[in-house]
Amino acid sequence: PQEIMKVNVNGKEYLVKTVDNPSLLEVLRDQLNLTGTKYGCGEGACGACKVLINGIPLPACITPVTSVADKNIVTIEGIARQNELHPVQKVFLEEDVFQCGFCASGMVVSAVALLEKNPDAGPRELVSGLNGNICRCCTYPAILDALSKLSQ
Ligand code: FES
Repeated sequence: PQEIMKVNVNGKEYLVKTVDNPSLLEVLRDQLNLTGTKYGCGEGACGACKVLINGIPLPACITPVTSVADKNIVTIEGIARQNELHPVQKVFLEEDVFQCGFCASGMVVSAVALLEKNPDAGPRELVSGLNGNICRCCTYPAILDALSKLSQ
């Protein structure tokens, strides 16, 4: 079997090892040293590991790396542009929404995708768009308030 493959992450191509069929999350963190994407539940349930795969936020922990060969991956490290934070990152910082911050990268990735698809998302769309992202500090009200500033 082929034991090396190419992946495209944040606009760059990398050669990565596929021995033992690693998840995309393992490859990002252990091989590419992109540790902004977090390991929470490992079961696709918490959203801490979400990355954009062809623009769709998906849990990297249950995505085999071999399934993303011809896809564009964007991680939290690729969300800011030209050293300028994305408006979602800015408003989260300005409004000081997070407590421990472990959910932050997944939350940012999901919110970016949601607002790209629906820039006028109202409270109901924001809640359903972030449904797959769990914050164990329960900062949901602050997160939703901050995002509603962007979508108004
Ligand atoms: Fe992937 Fe929880 S670590 S969804």
